[in-house]
Amino acid sequence: MAAFVPPGAALASSLAAPDARRLRAAGSRRPAVAAARPGGGARLPPTGVPSPSAPPTMVVAVPTAVNPTPTFHYDDAGYMVVEGVRVRDIQDALGEEASPFYVYSKAQISANYEAYRAALDGVDAIIGYAIKANNNKAVVKHLAGLGAGAVLVSGAELRLAMEAGMDTSRTVFNGNGKTPAELRAAVRSRCLINVDSEFDAAHIADAARAEGLPANVLIRINPDVDPEVHAYVSTGLANSKFGIRNSHLQWFLDYIRDAGDDVLRLAGVHSHLGSTIKKVSIFKDAADIMLGFVNTIREGGAAPHLRYLNIGGGLGIDYERVGEELPSPADLINTIRPQLLAGGLTVIMEPGRSLVGNAGALVSRVIGVKTNGSTRFIVTDGSMSELIRPALYDAYMYIAATEPGGETGVFDVVGPVCESSDFLGKGRSLPLPAEGSGLAVMDAGAYCHVMASNYNMKRLPTEVLVDGDEWRIVRKGQTYEDLMLGYEGLDV
Ligand code: LLP
Repeated sequence: MAAFVPPGAALASSLAAPDARRLRAAGSRRPAVAAARPGGGARLPPTGVPSPSAPPTMVVAVPTAVNPTPTFHYDDAGYMVVEGVRVRDIQDALGEEASPFYVYSKAQISANYEAYRAALDGVDAIIGYAIKANNNKAVVKHLAGLGAGAVLVSGAELRLAMEAGMDTSRTVFNGNGKTPAELRAAVRSRCLINVDSEFDAAHIADAARAEGLPANVLIRINPDVDPEVHAYVSTGLANSKFGIRNSHLQWFLDYIRDAGDDVLRLAGVHSHLGSTIKKVSIFKDAADIMLGFVNTIREGGAAPHLRYLNIGGGLGIDYERVGEELPSPADLINTIRPQLLAGGLTVIMEPGRSLVGNAGALVSRVIGVKTNGSTRFIVTDGSMSELIRPALYDAYMYIAATEPGGETGVFDVVGPVCESSDFLGKGRSLPLPAEGSGLAVMDAGAYCHVMASNYNMKRLPTEVLVDGDEWRIVRKGQTYEDLMLGYEGLDV
């Protein structure tokens, strides 16, 4: 499998990281991690050092040593290929109207799922796909077919999970603001339901009584372990809006017991620390704390149904592509395996990003190239409306040309939206692109299409799924007429 640089590209040109943080881990190499990744790609010879001639804030990092997404690669002519399909062919077939678009690799999703499944061999487990990461129905259906359960945060996600064929007894309904209607649907569907607060416990009990069915609940506890991630994706600290106060656990145990077995059944405990976590020790610390809670609850003697330890999602992926040492699902599970087996528990994992993130890319068309001051800009039709992570979290996402270009230079890649925060990447080393050529924001399978908006009346993009040598549209992009639907029948 080829490394993720077009043939003939200068090695040092594959990435210009805009800050030193990304370079820090660039020298780290751990063959075991690459080998553990499904289909881990070939590595390039280590090379590349900070360029002495680079501007002060610019650091030229080593090229991608390992392609973290082997289903996306280059053919000999320098065109990006997803599985067996040239991105350019999809772009041409869809036409300008359907640009930008998302492309997903079915094989990559399968490989990512298989990494979890293999890691959990010998452990009683539910791999609950966090649908919020990518709610494309074809993606959800595919994961359901592979055996995944689901993690849901809304009634609409529950409906989708059911339509996609998910076994709802293997789903978890999460959230700090579940509505009465959502809770009734969740009880009816036999979902596991997370108790997030005092009022939530009361609402779940109300829903169970209304449906005449017991609700199987997990108590969401904040283990107060720092996930060391962006504040906006950190969820398990003491002051988080999610979960219960640890000190109040006994109140919840009493409440559940007093509600009676025909209303609330304590099925387990849940924690979710945050997202983009890069150290397995963080999961281990949290699992130890959570197992402590399990033991305390068991010692109290009032939990005959307690069976699940839900350790949430949050495993990070290799957005930077500088060969950083990142844990695999096996690394994560192996650190907690002894505790899981000793506790005789069924583990629930809630991965989103690590199942679908590297399986997708946003493909934009280049509108033009311009220079202002000392900055060169590539302006694309893709923007913060279709992909907001860089603008919202200052998230780094790797950008790659999908076809051969001119001389390599350093560019800010920006969209046409009227905001200075509308950028996809800054300080990127890329071949000078021709107008109309393609640029792909990689690792855009998670939290990208789902967070797209109609800002500037941009339309939600088309989604395409590649399966071997074939591809098909799995969600139509919006049209102008779609944007007008909300006015139908109104006098405006
Ligand atoms: N379980 C719970 C309770 C969650 O809140 C989340 C994500 C997950 C599982 C899945 O986490 P994952 O494995 O995907 O990291 N929009 C942000 C990410 C928000 C994550 C919200 N919760 C981003 O673009 O990075």
